[in-house]
Amino acid sequence: MSTLATNPKLTTNQDLDPDRLREAFGFFPSGVVAVAAEIDGRPVGLAASSFTSVSLDPPLVSVNLAVASKTWPALRTAPRLGVTVLADHHAAVCRQLAGPVAARFAGVAYTVAAGGGITIDDGLARFDCTVHREVDAGDHVLILLELQAVDHVDRSSGQGPLVFHHSGFERLEPTVRT
Ligand SMILES: Cc1cc2nc3c(=O)[nH]c(=O)nc-3n(C[C@H](O)[C@H](O)[C@H](O)COP(=O)(O)O)c2cc1C
Repeated sequence: MSTLATNPKLTTNQDLDPDRLREAFGFFPSGVVAVAAEIDGRPVGLAASSFTSVSLDPPLVSVNLAVASKTWPALRTAPRLGVTVLADHHAAVCRQLAGPVAARFAGVAYTVAAGGGITIDDGLARFDCTVHREVDAGDHVLILLELQAVDHVDRSSGQGPLVFHHSGFERLEPTVRT
């Protein structure tokens, strides 16, 4: 079997079909966040693994949502959005937040901030955000969120993140630092 290291030739002009891209992207592990807000008295939100920290000044993060998302058009109208970095015990909550809209928050413990942003309880970090900018990005929209408030658990608690990798959930194994 050749690896990228033993086979330096990366063929150009390939047929980059979505399945092939998804498979390759799956090698890149990521955390997962919940993006949510209360709209007309109801919780609205979704799970996103595309979260990235972007800038410290101004404080920006990004998520990348499908143009086809039925939830984003509603979420983007909220004055504040809550973003929660999910913990490794949140796998079921995460699946739920990506599933049928009517049941996304059923039985999920969450908190509504003053501006309506929703954060999932027992997450690792949470952000209260406003939408800074939206950038067209193919079949997705790159959404820059400006942070208005930040909170996180104590690192010494040893709690780990939910890790999304090859379409499944994993947790980080603590390693011994040398
Ligand atoms: C682990 C995980 C990560 C996800 N990450 C994203 C993401 O980054 N961007 C996105 O558009 N959808 C993502 N989804 C799918 C959304 O959570 C949701 O299912 C999708 O937006 C369809 O619902 P909607 O039409 O209500 O938006 C993810 C789902 C899971 C389970």
